[in-house]
Amino acid sequence: MNKDLLVSTAHAMVADGKGLLAADEGTSSIKKRFDAINVENTETNRRDYREFLFRTAEPMQRDISGVILFDETIRQSAADGTPLVKIIEAAGSIPGIKVDTSPVPMPGFPGEVVTSGLDGLEKRLEDYFKLGARFAKWRAVIDIGNGIPTSANIHANAQLLARYAALCQQADIVPIIEPEVLMDGDHSIERCYDVTQHVLKTVFAELYHARVFLEGAILKPNMAIAGKKHAHQASPEQVAAHTIRLFNNCVPVAVPGIMFLSGGQGDVEATANLNAINAKQLPWKVSFSYGRALQFAAQKAWSGNPANIKAAQAAFSHRAKMNRLAALGQWSMAVEQA
Ligand code: 13P
Repeated sequence: MNKDLLVSTAHAMVADGKGLLAADEGTSSIKKRFDAINVENTETNRRDYREFLFRTAEPMQRDISGVILFDETIRQSAADGTPLVKIIEAAGSIPGIKVDTSPVPMPGFPGEVVTSGLDGLEKRLEDYFKLGARFAKWRAVIDIGNGIPTSANIHANAQLLARYAALCQQADIVPIIEPEVLMDGDHSIERCYDVTQHVLKTVFAELYHARVFLEGAILKPNMAIAGKKHAHQASPEQVAAHTIRLFNNCVPVAVPGIMFLSGGQGDVEATANLNAINAKQLPWKVSFSYGRALQFAAQKAWSGNPANIKAAQAAFSHRAKMNRLAALGQWSMAVEQA
């Protein structure tokens, strides 16, 4: 394990005002996004879409410290033959890779899932390092509902995250540890707080037992936020107050960065919440690792038409810039609309 490389990669990922573009949707997730804009889910369309994002020079150089890729994309080349990884690196951004192979049902635990992908991971990480990946992502999915999550499910997911993280660090790849408590459902912000606290306490205990080097790891959590169907949606200030108290109670300061997922928040909502969190002095760098909240506007503007690429790139650039300001605690509705 090269600790110096892990620390320097982790710090570069959370350099001031910078965050990650999560462009690692699997083939079925990107299909859902493409269906919404009437684009056929072909390998070429996936390539063309991601190519124009990665070629958007301003946000890629200014705001995006790294890009999380899917296995297909890390091996793909642009229309002119340049590997997409090289386009990302040329912008000064770091390529990363999603290495889990998605959630599967947990036998005996109806409604709960565990993440698969440990089989052969050691070798895959070696290959990904050679392809240019310097960080990786593994997402554990925790749902809130009647009688769930169970302690057993949280524990199983936390143990998998810890095994994954240890394997990454052995390969000199920074693990992004992503335990996502879903915001689907009608639960309150307090219930999200309680469940996320249980999850994070368990995850950090497992990371300790697996001897994971926290200074060379990044946490990608959900915010403390009410379920989408809950009657009362908290203000950014309330989300920030709950989220900061939660992390103060659960996340060691040795972790260099917390990079949030957007999880189904609206794109401006995700920016406003991140900004409110960063309005306070915090012991970690706190930034974004957004998928939908960074891409939604660009996908809509593009809609599969090459004539719309400039407009789509402008939409991506705007969202990335707004999130940079939020990562610095300098965003406002006035700059959003300027
Ligand atoms: P969202 O921001 O769309 O939640 O995606 C982030 C991510 O990487 C989920 O694993």
